[in-house]
Amino acid sequence: MTDTLSLLKQRRSVPPQFLAAPGPEGAQLDELLAIAARVPDHGKLVPWRFIVFKGEAREQAAAVVARVFRERNPQASEDQVAFERKRLTHAPVIVAVVSRAREHVKIPLWEQELSAGAVCMTMLIAACAMGYAGSWLTNWFSFDREVLRDFGLAEDERIAGFVHLGTPTAPISDRDRPVMADIVSTYGA
Ligand SMILES: Cc1cc2nc3c(=O)[nH]c(=O)nc-3n(C[C@H](O)[C@H](O)[C@H](O)COP(=O)(O)O)c2cc1C
Repeated sequence: MTDTLSLLKQRRSVPPQFLAAPGPEGAQLDELLAIAARVPDHGKLVPWRFIVFKGEAREQAAAVVARVFRERNPQASEDQVAFERKRLTHAPVIVAVVSRAREHVKIPLWEQELSAGAVCMTMLIAACAMGYAGSWLTNWFSFDREVLRDFGLAEDERIAGFVHLGTPTAPISDRDRPVMADIVSTYGA
């Protein structure tokens, strides 16, 4: 229990440019995804799924991101295109958490989408507990239908996050945290 609390108190996101191999793979990656799938899920709808980007296939995905970026920004410099291309090649493993929330008679879309967020966060915490680090990011291409189509998303599916995973190459200092008094109130007090 203490280990869990100290992990949660100290955990920091590590940006992809500071993530190197090794990342979780094989049975460990399978275990990580199975843990991430153990989140609260009203109605047991499983309103999310995973797409794993690893190895050479990351280059293929990165080329799609670069091509669409160039299409959308014809004035962009080669450096800018190269920067966009790198987004999906820094971390050794990237897991796209895809929200497949759909209208339901009883369970609101909002609750299904929150469950996808819980998947991302659980994955990040479990990866840290396995000794890795990571970041939950979206970036512009999470909202670009042309990119998403290439990544295999259906028209009614969305990206909850790309969880970039690997081994940290640099220590990350903490960031400002909310002042608790600003965000906590007691009902009736
Ligand atoms: C849904 C979601 C999407 C995010 N997308 C980005 C992003 O595209 N780029 C970015 O710099 N941070 C993004 N963040 C923020 C980072 O994940 C993270 O909150 C930040 O780097 C500090 O995290 P930490 O408090 O875990 O260290 C996103 C966070 C969430 C919850």
